[in-house]
Amino acid sequence: MDLKKYVANVKDFPKKGILFRDITPLMNNGEAFRMATDEIVKFAKEKAAELIVGPEARGFIFGCPVSYAMGIGFVPVRKPKKLPREVVEFSYDLEYGSNTLCMHRDAIKPGQRVLIVDDLLATGGTMEAAVKLVEELGGVVVGLAFLIELEELNGREKLKDYPVLTLMKY
Ligand code: PRP
Ligand code: HPA
Repeated sequence: MDLKKYVANVKDFPKKGILFRDITPLMNNGEAFRMATDEIVKFAKEKAAELIVGPEARGFIFGCPVSYAMGIGFVPVRKPKKLPREVVEFSYDLEYGSNTLCMHRDAIKPGQRVLIVDDLLATGGTMEAAVKLVEELGGVVVGLAFLIELEELNGREKLKDYPVLTLMKY
């Protein structure tokens, strides 16, 4: 199955000059959604993952079905002030300004094998932050899985110490 058939290419979103890869048609098609999920589940099994971590918001959509299929837990990575209990935080620079991501401090047991799942790898800043949070809590990052990789942004360079699975490259 050619998953790229289920990605809508949207010109000038969210601003002029950006070609946005929209994965909502893939989510809308049961067969395509299942096939993408199954590929990530296969990777999670190969890496003997014990926990799935997913960054807000689209990492939830693709990470949760992997958790369900594996019968293992899911941990959300969220923007500040969303999680109600004690968190660990990591901030990273953007072209203008910065972003902060958070995870509950008790979400991961030291030594636990963690697979992080997101929809898309662009600059890699989001995934690098998620990796730092997992490692701060003593988790072992066994792999990083994405549906889409935007190769020209070189996100892989930031993640070269980890096994990376991407289902579609642009
Ligand atoms: C998008 C995407 C990834 C991230 C990739 O999320 O879903 O999480 O950007 O970009 P990066 O590799 O340059 O960090 P966004 O921040 O738009 O949040 P959302 O999922 O809540 O819309
Ligand atoms: N599509 C979806 N999310 C994104 C993109 C994109 O092309 N670039 C950065 N985040």
